[in-house]
Amino acid sequence: MRILNASGCLDALAAPEVARELDAFVTKTVTPLPREGSAPPRIAETAHGMLNAIGLANPGRERFLAEHLPRLRELGVPVWVSVGGFCAGDYAETCLRLADIEAIELNLSCPNVDEAADSAAEIVSACRRATELPLYAKLSAAHPDVAEVARAVAAAGADGLSLINTLRATALDRRLRPVLARGNGGLSGPALRPVALHAVSACHQAVGLPIVGMGGIQTGRDALEFVACGAVDVALGTVLFSDPGAPARVRAELAVACADAGVATPEDAGSLAKSPETERKVPA
Ligand SMILES: Cc1cc2nc3c(=O)[nH]c(=O)nc-3n(C[C@H](O)[C@H](O)[C@H](O)COP(=O)(O)O)c2cc1C
Repeated sequence: MRILNASGCLDALAAPEVARELDAFVTKTVTPLPREGSAPPRIAETAHGMLNAIGLANPGRERFLAEHLPRLRELGVPVWVSVGGFCAGDYAETCLRLADIEAIELNLSCPNVDEAADSAAEIVSACRRATELPLYAKLSAAHPDVAEVARAVAAAGADGLSLINTLRATALDRRLRPVLARGNGGLSGPALRPVALHAVSACHQAVGLPIVGMGGIQTGRDALEFVACGAVDVALGTVLFSDPGAPARVRAELAVACADAGVATPEDAGSLAKSPETERKVPA
């Protein structure tokens, strides 16, 4: 089981010592043109998670390729580039330009991108034609049947899945106005974990692709639960804001979590949590 960061939750150039604790570093989503992102406030705390409306702020493809990627390669950690866009052509063009990295993660939850199974598949097919690099499709659990989207992207040529992205949510201030300037944002952190575990389990049973599980992982036990639901690797997101030492801590906690669960290694926990409900949805 490898430990990655979740896209957008770690700036490896600002905190290289944190990035070096990871088995691979995933960049913030890169879009064709630079994006300033949403107006502040862009972050809010809620009872069991965090709301963000960063709005995919990033330097844009050209600056990323010329300035950021060469420096990221020097960190000595395998790099995954998260790719976003507004249409299939945007994603494919960036994929075509990427080389000397470990994998590409396609953020299929971008603004104006329809997360329906056929549009997700169209993006993955276009990227498949553009690159031979491993393609991980990152899905959100906002779709009523995330396993259907997983089947569509698998058929379109995805090599793996990253599950899950944030869920749209709102938080109000004392005077009952939205805390975030944009009104709503993406919910991350512990509130997401049960939803993410279900998505991992459903997608694992629908397709045989390797899964990077994420959503509210804070401890070694949390990471092990994702493996039990079918994830091969895990990613740490929101926890990195409060505990940059989380990658090493989670790794150390895994041994205790395994002993507590009665398994020798995290890999032995694989699929222990197979659920009869999702099994019924697997076609014969
Ligand atoms: C501040 C912030 C920025 C994020 N930016 C991105 C992004 O650029 N691309 C992406 O695919 N996901 C992004 N995410 C979603 C995370 O990668 C992850 O899927 C989600 O937060 C669930 O994991 P967590 O609960 O451990 O944070 C962002 C999340 C946060 C909190």
